[in-house]
Order: sequence, then structure tokens, then C-alpha cells
Amino acid sequence: MARLLTCSLLAICALTACGPGPAPDDGGTPPADGGPGGDAAMDDAGPVDAGMRMRTTAAGPTGATCPDGSAVTYDSFAQGFFGSYCVRCHASTLSGGARNGAPPDVNLDSHAAITPAIAARIDRVAAAGPTRINIFMPISGAAPTDAERDRLGEWIACGTP
Ligand code: HEC
Repeated sequence: MARLLTCSLLAICALTACGPGPAPDDGGTPPADGGPGGDAAMDDAGPVDAGMRMRTTAAGPTGATCPDGSAVTYDSFAQGFFGSYCVRCHASTLSGGARNGAPPDVNLDSHAAITPAIAARIDRVAAAGPTRINIFMPISGAAPTDAERDRLGEWIACGTP
């Protein structure tokens, strides 16, 4: 496909006698989102503008809010979320190397452990909100979907009920 495109452009150049030199303005720049080549920049190395929301490993608040009538609770959501994606490293029962570098003060294996201060830190590294999708955590292994990260942001914004 790329070769065909190059040949086509060369053919157009030959016909219009544009010759070597700067590429035409409307042909030399890959599409900003989506199109061929655009996905090459989509890695986890740093802030990436993925359309409306920044998808980033750089910690920062999501700006998530608590909608009226939110039904997201520890029992219905957060316990399972942490169980699936976090407690492999962030459990109070793990110590030393078994934590894979997870800080000793960040344990996610009980509701009581999620203090407001810990919740704010979780928001900054694993949740999503109107302005950003934080993907720093988990640092390896199975990762939550963006929709799950949105629910985590909502749960934290609602005060971790
Ligand atoms: C493979 C092990 C591992 C998994 C799984 C993991 N973490 Fe971590 N976590 C770490 C390590 C290592 C750090 C320290 C990172 C650093 O400071 O550079 C960390 C740090 C953190 C911090 C502290 C950030 C700060 O400095 O305030 C929070 C909060 C956190 N993780 C939440 C989570 C959540 C939520 C999940 C699940 C979605 C998760 N982690 C999954 C290893 C892990």
C-alpha cells in the first residue's frame, strides 16, 4: 500500500512537473488521527493525544465527578477491579520482592485500606475522567478497559462508597 501510494505520488509529480523538493502541502503530512502511520505514535511511553482525552502514564487528576444516583460501590465494582488488576502487587499480605516494587503503604485488598489519600493517588495513576485516561497502573499484566477506568474515577469521585 505504501509503495503504491509512493508510486502514485511520483506519477502525479511527473505529470505536474513538481520534481524533487518539498512535498506538496496536502500530501506529505500523515493524518493527525487514525490514518496510516498515525497509530505508530500510540505507545505507553508518555502523554499521547488520543482524540478527546489524553491517554497518559504521567500521573495527574482525572477531574472525574460523581453523577446523581451513582451505583458504583466497593462491593459491586472496586473490589473486583482491584482483585483483577492490582492486588497481585498491592496486597497487605505481600512483602519484599513479592510486591514487585509496589510501595508498602499502597495496599488495595480491603475497603478500609482505601483512605481518601490513597484514593486520590489511585485516581492519578489508574482512573479516567473527562480530561484524561491514566494508564500508569498496572505497570504490567492484564489492564482494565477505558470504561472500567471511568467507573474507577466515578467511584473515587463519589467518595469510595
Ligand atoms: C506488577 C505490579 C503492580 C501492579 C499489578 C499494580 N501496581 Fe501499582 N505500583 C507498582 C509499582 C512498582 C509502583 C511504584 C511506581 C513508581 O513509583 O514508580 C506502584 C505504585 C502505585 C501507586 C502509588 C502512586 C503514587 O506515587 O502515588 C498507586 C496508587 C498504585 N500503584 C495503584 C495501582 C492500581 C490501582 C493498580 C491496579 C489497577 C496497580 N497499582 C497495579 C506495581 C504494581
